Amino acid sequence: MARNEANIGTMVTTKGSTVLHSVLYVSTAQVLFTAPRMEELLTKSRASNARQQITGLLLYRDGAFMQFLEGPEGAVERLFRKIKADERHFAIVTISEGAIPQRRFPDSPMGFHNLRDHAVRALPGFAEFAETSLSMSEFCDEPGRAMQLLGVFERGR
Ligand SMILES: Cc1cc2nc3c(=O)[nH]c(=O)nc-3n(C[C@H](O)[C@H](O)[C@H](O)COP(=O)(O)O)c2cc1C
Repeated sequence: MARNEANIGTMVTTKGSTVLHSVLYVSTAQVLFTAPRMEELLTKSRASNARQQITGLLLYRDGAFMQFLEGPEGAVERLFRKIKADERHFAIVTISEGAIPQRRFPDSPMGFHNLRDHAVRALPGFAEFAETSLSMSEFCDEPGRAMQLLGVFERGR
């Protein structure tokens, strides 16, 4: 796995530029995401992402999502188009999008955390996000802060 991921991370086009791409967005759930519904979304997403060499992280809190996707540019863009058209959520706002030098979640086709979980609240670095909602207004002007929140789970892996 690690060796494959290293290869993915250094994939280059014929022009020599890296094709590893990322998207970070926030959105609002349209439907109530019960545990079984979330489980179903995660199971399907993980299987599909693994086939597409997409990795990343999905965070949820009180009806709001934040998702970070990383992988081959075409695959990430195709998936993000599908996600934007998904009627289970709305108010999808892109916080950051672009090329990345390497993956942040190379071992995880889609990690998931509910920020209300006790285990999350105990993670190093989470305390300053304890009252933060996953809303556009929290992160749009401060994409770096969203990246910092992702970092809590990167270290916690
Ligand atoms: C918040 C949210 C996150 C999602 N994340 C993914 C994902 O990481 N991978 C994935 O394949 N589908 C994800 N989906 C589901 C897609 O929107 C879509 O339903 C899925 O890709 C199946 O599309 P298809 O039936 O056209 O193959 C997500 C949906 C929501 C609401």
